[in-house]
Amino acid sequence: MSIPIELTVNGRAVHALVEPRTHLADFLREHLNLTGTNLGCEQGVCGACTVMIEGAPARACIAFAVGCDGADVRTVEYFDDDVVMQELRAAFSAEHALQCGYCTPGMLATARDIVTRLPDADEARIRHELAGNLCRCTGYVGIVRAIQRVLQARREASPMAMA
Ligand code: FES
Ligand code: FES
Repeated sequence: MSIPIELTVNGRAVHALVEPRTHLADFLREHLNLTGTNLGCEQGVCGACTVMIEGAPARACIAFAVGCDGADVRTVEYFDDDVVMQELRAAFSAEHALQCGYCTPGMLATARDIVTRLPDADEARIRHELAGNLCRCTGYVGIVRAIQRVLQARREASPMAMA
C-alpha cells in the first residue's frame, strides 16, 4: 500500500506516493533521480547517504520517506551555488581530498555543517564531527585538511567574527 507524502526537496515542492518501507535515499535516487546521494552500508553507519533534513545532517538510508512528510530535504545537488560548498569543493580539490569520490557527497554535507556550525573547530573537533562519515579507501588526512583550509580562510577573512 502506497502512502501520499508532501515534502520540499531542494526548494521544490514534491508530492508522491511511496511504500512505507521506502527509505529516503531510495526515494531521492529512484523517484527524483537525485543520484548525488550515494548508498554504502544502508544501515546508518557509513554516512555516504548524508543529506540535510530540516537543516541538519541526517542519514537518508535510515530515514523513511514517509517519515519525511512535510520536511525540508536538501541533497548535494542543492548546493551547487552555495558559497560554503564552493569553498569546500575548491579545498577538497587543493588538498587531494577527492579520493574515491564515493563518500564525497556525504563528506561535503558534514563538512558544510562543521564550517557553518563550528567556525572555531580545531583538527580534533573536525575528526570527531567526521566520525560518522567513513572513508573506506584511503584516509582522512586530505579531507580534514580541506575543512581546516576553509575554516582558516574564513577566520582570516573575518577575524572579528571569531572574537
Ligand atoms: S548508506 Fe546510509 S549510513 Fe551508510
Ligand atoms: S575518499 Fe571516499 S571512501 Fe575514501
